[in-house]
Amino acid sequence: MALYHTNPRVDIQRAHPNAIDTLSGYRGEHVARWVEGQVINTQRWTDQLYSLRFDAPVEPFSAGQFTKVALDIESDRVGRPYSYVNAPSERPLEIYFIRVPNGPLTNRLIELQAGDKLWVSPQPSGFFTLSEVPAAEHLWMLSTGTALGVFLSILKTDEPWQRFEKIVLVHAVRKAEELNYAAIIERLQREHPEQFSFIPFVSREQVDFALCGRIPAMIENGRLEERAGLSINADQSQFMLCGNPGMVKDTTEVLLSRGLQRNRRREPGQITTEKYW
Ligand SMILES: Cc1cc2nc3c(=O)[nH]c(=O)nc-3n(C[C@H](O)[C@H](O)[C@H](O)COP(=O)(O)OP(=O)(O)OC[C@H]3O[C@@H](n4cnc5c(N)ncnc54)[C@H](O)[C@@H]3O)c2cc1C
Ligand SMILES: NC(=O)c1ccc[n+]([C@@H]2O[C@H](COP(=O)([O-])OP(=O)(O)OC[C@H]3O[C@@H](n4cnc5c(N)ncnc54)[C@H](OP(=O)(O)O)[C@@H]3O)[C@@H](O)[C@H]2O)c1
Repeated sequence: MALYHTNPRVDIQRAHPNAIDTLSGYRGEHVARWVEGQVINTQRWTDQLYSLRFDAPVEPFSAGQFTKVALDIESDRVGRPYSYVNAPSERPLEIYFIRVPNGPLTNRLIELQAGDKLWVSPQPSGFFTLSEVPAAEHLWMLSTGTALGVFLSILKTDEPWQRFEKIVLVHAVRKAEELNYAAIIERLQREHPEQFSFIPFVSREQVDFALCGRIPAMIENGRLEERAGLSINADQSQFMLCGNPGMVKDTTEVLLSRGLQRNRRREPGQITTEKYW
């Protein structure tokens, strides 16, 4: 099975308030498609970027997986996939999202307040997990925008620190104000000073602490390796890429040209990806 998958967007469904909304489970029993959740709080980082924390009776998940969140909007249930930001052992559940211009769901999610109800898919989905990533010395986690969240969930578990000698987290954003979750990243730096490096990219303004530009260009010109103090090669490196599909595509091409391969279950390689749209 390919580890990079197409957009599993949840189609807009007719909401039947009194209907039992179920799916057939793999053992044939009916499992709920949606369970009710309750908002704990929302955090507004910028005009566009928000985190939503909520409780819901979801099934256990692996760090790197996503759930689906839905609201009933007029007579439709509108659901979309969101990566968990919390580690599997942590509660409340948390997602980090960007308000998309004219986006049907995100423009409603930002209006939620503590105590409001939302629908959550109880079954986790996705293969963007460390169990799919082969052994290596160095783990490179490359994110754009809100895809930072999926890596925070993974980094809050023990597994990456036990498996990799060095871990590089890259967060690429347009503007410095979008470099959120600094407290968690600083905590990871304090806890793993020799093992962990965080490399911010800011593409649409000049700031002295970040690389200015795009990830693929900075791999091609060697500046990412220089900043990380590590070389990129098929023997030592594993890459996880998540977020903007253009970044995933362009970075994959650059890494392929450097001798790395896509990671597939039948044919393990070094590049594991997840696209957000
Ligand atoms: C596996 C998976 C996991 C995802 N996890 C997250 C997540 O953790 N956080 C998150 O914000 N989104 C995530 N998404 C995207 C999310 O599902 C929605 O598409 C998004 O929140 C917009 O919803 P919408 O209904 O407002 O607009 P939509 O109609 O769904 O989207 C409209 C357009 O907005 C743009 N867009 C969508 N998502 C993003 C994004 N994250 N950043 C920048 N532009 C975007 C695309 O151009 C898209 O075509 C994920 C998608 C997938 C497939
Ligand atoms: N971020 C905002 O302030 C803002 C404001 C209004 C609306 N939006 C909307 O939000 C969505 C975008 O959100 P976003 O800012 O989180 O994400 P984004 O457009 O995915 O940008 C995040 C980072 O990814 C980079 N990138 C884009 N394409 C790339 C590619 N092919 N290869 C490598 N890097 C690439 C961007 O660089 P570049 O800067 O070079 O593209 C930027 O540094 C859009 O729908 C947009 O209309 C965002």
